[in-house]
Amino acid sequence: MAKYHMRSCPLVLSLLSILFYSSIVLAAPVTTYNVVSLGAKADGGTDSTQAFISAWTKTCASANPAIIYVPAGRFDLGKVVFNGPCMNSAIGIHIDGTLVAPSDYSVLGNDGNWLLFEHVDGVTISGGILDGQGAGLWDCKSSGKSCPSGATTLEFTNSKNIVVSSLTSLNSQMFHIVVNGCQKVKMQGVTVAASGDSPNTDGIHVQLSSDVTILSSKIRTGDDCISIGPGATNLWIENVACGPGHGISIGSLGKDLQEVGVENVTVKTVTFTGTQNGVRIKTWGRPSNGFARNILFQHAIMVDVQNPILIDQNYCPGNEGCPGQVSGVKISDVTYQDIHGTSATEVAVKFDCSSENPCSGIRLEDVKLTYKNQAAQASCTYAAGTSSGAVQPSGCL
Ligand SMILES: *[C@@H]1O[C@H](CO)[C@@H](O)[C@H](O)[C@H]1NC(C)=O
Repeated sequence: MAKYHMRSCPLVLSLLSILFYSSIVLAAPVTTYNVVSLGAKADGGTDSTQAFISAWTKTCASANPAIIYVPAGRFDLGKVVFNGPCMNSAIGIHIDGTLVAPSDYSVLGNDGNWLLFEHVDGVTISGGILDGQGAGLWDCKSSGKSCPSGATTLEFTNSKNIVVSSLTSLNSQMFHIVVNGCQKVKMQGVTVAASGDSPNTDGIHVQLSSDVTILSSKIRTGDDCISIGPGATNLWIENVACGPGHGISIGSLGKDLQEVGVENVTVKTVTFTGTQNGVRIKTWGRPSNGFARNILFQHAIMVDVQNPILIDQNYCPGNEGCPGQVSGVKISDVTYQDIHGTSATEVAVKFDCSSENPCSGIRLEDVKLTYKNQAAQASCTYAAGTSSGAVQPSGCL
């Protein structure tokens, strides 16, 4: 149905209208804008940026629900800003094809993002492959030359009621997906894939946002599978496969003196395979009023993970801007429940908390982590809490 250009099909439109009106009271007709009808070429060579911008302009200006349809094929795109507010809050973007970023990283340069949704309310993106073509920038960064920071593939800023389903993001220059300053975002069936040694290619980053849900997704990349920044509240992550990558991380928090906290995060039913970390909370070792509280890590399987359970409050890269200082971030009420598997290092549970703001309310329940078929070790500094059920390694709390 999405393939019809309905404006040119009045018969289809009126038949559909009858259908809609008979089933849903007062449902508005849906207009579909096919990017190819607006000049996009699925040939992997022609720049289709203008056609996408014009599809968005029409969709956003439509008083009724509207759909952008991207058929199969490869569409080369430069930076596209999907700017709101729009005239309707039921916009669909149905993608059967692949959107391809410029392979020359100097084109996006320091722009920050490639596909940016800003000030939108009610956008559903389904299907599609986003190819960030980041390999050139990764090579530049690993050669030690001076390179641009690179672009996030897909970013939502100051938006709400967003759904992303069955989307694949490949080889981003920087972060693959960013949710920043948003409310009510649901991602389901997302796949992220980039090389395990690609720099700064976090899978999904969430900050300053509430009611974000990430379900049934597969993430393999060179940095955090999911990173959670300041101001993330009521975040639910369930049924995720992570690895390679750096795990699921709350932080780095506490870089700034004044910072909004992280609260109400659930990470449930996640498998970490060969990752640097499993579930991590990380804060800068410097003053801050930030916090992380009411966090639940539940039903996790660790397969050969270097730091399966980690709180690190002494993050200070390059020993710059923090030596001799301690973290001001308060970490409290963090539960680790039903976490099993293998550690790739001897210390499987490490709570390295702040001497000024010790971690409190840390709960370990039914944890079993082994190292080389033996019990692994636990290490705790300034951490208080309880253990219940079978906990191995034990002796920490
Ligand atoms: C966190 O969850 C608690 C308990 O459900 C709720 O009272 C509180 O408002 C939530 N915090 C935020 C920032 O929404």
